[in-house]
Amino acid sequence: MLNEVGVGLRADQVRNDNQLPGFLKVEGLSKSFAKDKPVFDNVSFTLDKGEFVCIIGHSGCGKTTILNVLAGLDTATGGHVFMDGREVAGPSLERGVVFQSHALMPWLTVRRNIAFAVRSRWPHWTAAQVDAHVQSFVAMVGLSQAIDKKPSQLSGGMKQRVGIARAFAIQPKMLLLDEPFGALDALTRGTIQDELLAIVRETQQTVFMITHDVDEAILLADRIVLMSNGHESPAGYRPGGIAEVVINTLPPERKRAQLHHLAGYYELRNHIVDFLTRKEPT
Ligand SMILES: Nc1ncnc2c1ncn2[C@@H]1O[C@H](COP(=O)(O)OP(=O)(O)O)[C@@H](O)[C@H]1O
Ligand SMILES: [Mg+2]
Repeated sequence: MLNEVGVGLRADQVRNDNQLPGFLKVEGLSKSFAKDKPVFDNVSFTLDKGEFVCIIGHSGCGKTTILNVLAGLDTATGGHVFMDGREVAGPSLERGVVFQSHALMPWLTVRRNIAFAVRSRWPHWTAAQVDAHVQSFVAMVGLSQAIDKKPSQLSGGMKQRVGIARAFAIQPKMLLLDEPFGALDALTRGTIQDELLAIVRETQQTVFMITHDVDEAILLADRIVLMSNGHESPAGYRPGGIAEVVINTLPPERKRAQLHHLAGYYELRNHIVDFLTRKEPT
């Protein structure tokens, strides 16, 4: 059989940058708002295609700043971000972003909020194509009954679902989620977490998500990045950065309600909680 990479060449000799491991590559990222006091520096990590990575750290350590740089909405002071082999240089429909608050257009119905994004992504589609696409993603988050309602007629949980449907509907190469369930009550959050997990498993979506909820990270993430805050030390100011990356070894078919019955759950949870209580919050 013919070797796809060419006769006489080893695979590693012909791989180009696109095929190197790491669908998303973050290299040596730093961000300073004040001179000589970077919020974080030397932040490097990769995400494989289809991987779900959560980042946890105290308020102010720079999580949202990193996510905004990945989204192309902010620029780093130093370092680089590559997605699918190309450097991120601005916002793109290749990345879907869900913010902490829903960011829907209040004067548009659910259907039209999502259609707006879908039309930007595929401008040549007919109205019927756009509407069919919108309907399927609204159904995916269980909101078909509310498709012609405006955001003001929806609960907080429903609005976040619309945001998720909109982000998935543009079929981005990557989803960036900034504490998307932070403002929701525990019950609603739980339901949407289970929904998100099911959708991500089905679509094999690559996801980078900020959360402050340890159980949420353990439920959703394949790996959990623990981030430390910048702080003054006897040796001078030390920027924040990645303290540790924890691999989630729990079985992938986990459900929120059964998490605490899984072997290894408490060790994982205690490890992360210990990290969060050990490090000084700002
Ligand atoms: N536009 C800005 N100007 C000045 N400081 C900022 C700005 N944006 C964020 N910061 C500061 O950078 C740090 C990290 O912010 P952020 O990324 O929002 O943290 P996190 O999301 O982890 O809570 C904070 O100390 C914040 O005050
Ligand atoms: Mg934040």
